Amino acid sequence: MIKVITYGTFDLLHEGHINILKRAKALGDYLIVGVTTENFDITRGKINVRQSLMERMEAVRNTGIADEVIPEEYVGQKIDDIKRNNVSIFALGSDWEGKFDYLNEYCKVVYLPRTEGISSSQLRADKLVKVGIAGSDPTVLKLVKQAETVNGIEIEGIYCDETEVTLPSKNKYADFDKLAADCDAVYVAVRPELRYGYIKKALESGKHVISESPVAMSEKQARELYGLAAKKNLQLFDSVKTAYALPFLRLILLIKSGLIGEVKNIDATCTSLEVREWLKKTKYYTSFTGWGSIAVLPVFKILGTEYESVSFLTLNSEEMNDIYTKATFKYKNALATINVGVGVKSEGDLRISGTKGYIYVPAPWWKSGYFEVRFENASKNKPYYYENEGEGLRMELVQFVRSITTNESNFYFDSELSTAISKVMEEYEKSL
Ligand code: CTP
Repeated sequence: MIKVITYGTFDLLHEGHINILKRAKALGDYLIVGVTTENFDITRGKINVRQSLMERMEAVRNTGIADEVIPEEYVGQKIDDIKRNNVSIFALGSDWEGKFDYLNEYCKVVYLPRTEGISSSQLRADKLVKVGIAGSDPTVLKLVKQAETVNGIEIEGIYCDETEVTLPSKNKYADFDKLAADCDAVYVAVRPELRYGYIKKALESGKHVISESPVAMSEKQARELYGLAAKKNLQLFDSVKTAYALPFLRLILLIKSGLIGEVKNIDATCTSLEVREWLKKTKYYTSFTGWGSIAVLPVFKILGTEYESVSFLTLNSEEMNDIYTKATFKYKNALATINVGVGVKSEGDLRISGTKGYIYVPAPWWKSGYFEVRFENASKNKPYYYENEGEGLRMELVQFVRSITTNESNFYFDSELSTAISKVMEEYEKSL
């Protein structure tokens, strides 16, 4: 029996995929199809995939052409698969011509003609989500850059309420309503105290929203916004990029799996020296409103949002409110302290202490691709490295487009987490 094997992502299965599967099958008697897992795709730089591994494997199975469908999880797996299954022919589309010649050592390598005029990338780009930017936070520059790498998203223009930021050469709108009318979604990057108003307006006019965090300065306002989004069947994303970054997601899973035992304490620090002139003029946008959402993320993700109490110590300077804040959370069985500063520099690391060991994430922890799990017996310490291309923002945009097109909820960052952040902001404000 001649066994043939082929691989691919097979996202949004299309005619080109069916043709290649038929052509590959025709080369022998038995066809094995390897479908790439999300992780493997991310590590090889393919981040835009819309469908889950299960959906993609199911779609390939449903063609009835494959005799066996397997996941492809790691570099070098092709060699293992070929040897283990006694495969005679490895087949792939001509876009890969020459790239897999090294497999000739194990079986025959055949490149098959590719179907012209169709691809998953094209299908993903067909459903274009037009995004308008409101605000001048420096993150808009990052957004514009990352949006270029994500299929299915296009930055339509920008409405700017402040002028201190050098803006990308995008259409400038003098009117927010006009911008919202021209777009499917709005990215809100205005000052914290103004966000609620802009988000509400955008949702009321039927637009999806992705907003800098916090989305509102009180629990009640956040609930109202999420209620409105749900009622109108719209997406509202709270943009704490770290929540979407692979190293952070893995760190949370490691902790949930009990590697360091029960978590008893978390210390997170986030500071920056940059003080923009207009920060001095506003009551908000100081250390806690600027950094608090990020710093509190590991605390809420690991210990949950049901803390018993929180207390704050805030330092003001003559020029600006809140140049440094310490917030301590008391949980039933754990503590957490976050330190945030603007205009004061400190080591921006993260420590998570457990009953068996601890995790150390070096500065800047919120965009680190590296962390260590450490134990009393140091010989058991283990480093972990991950790709952190785009620092989570890219993945967030991918998920945003996916949620809009498929109505899938945002499992990285749900409304409860976002509302809890707004609640902490409210408590912070009361403490001042
Ligand atoms: N393929 C093909 N003809 C097309 C598209 C894909 O023959 N028009 C083949 C590829 O050569 C590969 C297999 O289908 O052997 C799986 O490809 P995959 O990368 O999943 O599909 P693409 O549509 O090329 O995806 P993308 O646009 O994300 O690169």
